[in-house]
Parts: sequence; C-alpha cells; structure tokens
Amino acid sequence: MRTMKTKDGRTYFTALKKGSIEVDVKAVTEYENEKVKAFVHDIHDGYDSRFDEADVIYCEPAWRPGYVKFMEMAGKDPQKYGYNKYLKAIHDFAKQFGKPFYCIGSVAMMKILQPDDSQPIVITPHGSNDAIGVFNGTLFDCPNTDSFITELCKKYTVIGDIFCGAGYTFSHALPHNRFILSDVNPECIGFIAKEAEHGNC
Ligand SMILES: C[S@@+](CC[C@H](N)C(=O)[O-])C[C@H]1O[C@@H](n2cnc3c(N)ncnc32)[C@H](O)[C@@H]1O
Repeated sequence: MRTMKTKDGRTYFTALKKGSIEVDVKAVTEYENEKVKAFVHDIHDGYDSRFDEADVIYCEPAWRPGYVKFMEMAGKDPQKYGYNKYLKAIHDFAKQFGKPFYCIGSVAMMKILQPDDSQPIVITPHGSNDAIGVFNGTLFDCPNTDSFITELCKKYTVIGDIFCGAGYTFSHALPHNRFILSDVNPECIGFIAKEAEHGNC
C-alpha cells in the first residue's frame, strides 16, 4: 500500500508515486472494536446502511488522475464505471445519507458533484488550495482540512468516512468519538485494523 507522511506525522494513502512509501499491509474485509467499524465498500454499489449510525460524514475522494490507480490497486476495473459516475455515486450517497456530508475536492470536481454549497479550503496533506462541499448541512470557516476534521470530531460523536484510506480522519479521534469507515481497498481496512489494535487513534 502506497502511503505518504503528512507534516504532522499522520499517514495518508496516495495514488501518486512521488515521495510515497510502500508499506506491507494485510487485506481485511471487516474490522470492529469499540472505537471503529471498518469495512470494504465500493461506492458504485450505492448507499450502505451501516452508515445510518454516523452523525456526519467527511471524505476525501480520489482526484480524476488518481481514480484509475486507486481502482487498480483495489483490484477493480476502472473502465467499468469511469470518474463521472464515481462523482455521481458520491452525490447520490450523500443525498441518501440525509445528514451533514462534507467532501473535499477541486473546484472542477464540485461542478460535477453538485453539493448544496462549497467554499475554499487548504487540503492539509497536500497543502493545496481546493474546495470543500457540503450536502444536508452548513459550512463553517476553517483554514484547512486538519482543523475542519478536528471541529467535526468536537461537534459530533459518530464520524463516517466513505474513502477512509489510511485513516487521516480516524487519526483525529477524540475520546468520545466512534468511527464508521469504508474503502474499496481491503488493504486500507487492514491498515485501520492495525492502527486501532496498536491504539494509534
Ligand atoms: C484521496 S484517497 C483518501 C485518502 C484518505 N483520506 C487517507 O487518509 O488516506 C481516496 C480513497 O478513495 C478510495 N476509493 C477510490 N475509489 C473508490 C470506490 N469506488 N469506492 C470506495 N472507495 C474508493 C481509494 O481506495 C482511496 O483510499
């Protein structure tokens, strides 16, 4: 699994080779303890009712150039659906969830994703100026995704992430939080399980 370290020492799953570190991770389909429920789910398969338990969802979808690589890394055929269908699947998932759903991405991505509202934000792991969109909720001022996730963890109890990767969202857990996490890649679930077992979140 290709990961990169953020400036504050957190781990992030990346499709880009530059500066990435290959880590050996076991593929896991499902994992649960008192803090987290994590499982494999392909967003193309629609809404998953295990997210009913979440108060809010925060997610960092694949960028258009990374989408093909992420799908290949998960052993999926990226040509079966394509990137615009991926964004449509996120839109539909957010609508069905019906509670606050925050999603980061480029301004171009927001045009297709069509959230209820969006505003600029710096994406902490990359340091890039991009956007955050919201469905079923409201936006609040935050300079970057790091402080945005921290605010969500303070405000809500159960946090969901449908593209959990190496668990950047999960790494912000406060003592009162529980997490519902999914990803198309079983290695991501293996990574989360390992972090949880080592008490790293
Ligand atoms: C930009 S990364 C998210 C990184 C993550 N926030 C982290 O902490 O590492 C995008 C994630 O979306 C996942 N993904 C891509 N296509 C997917 C799909 N069809 N269904 C579910 N997850 C998908 C990838 O496996 C990857 O983990």
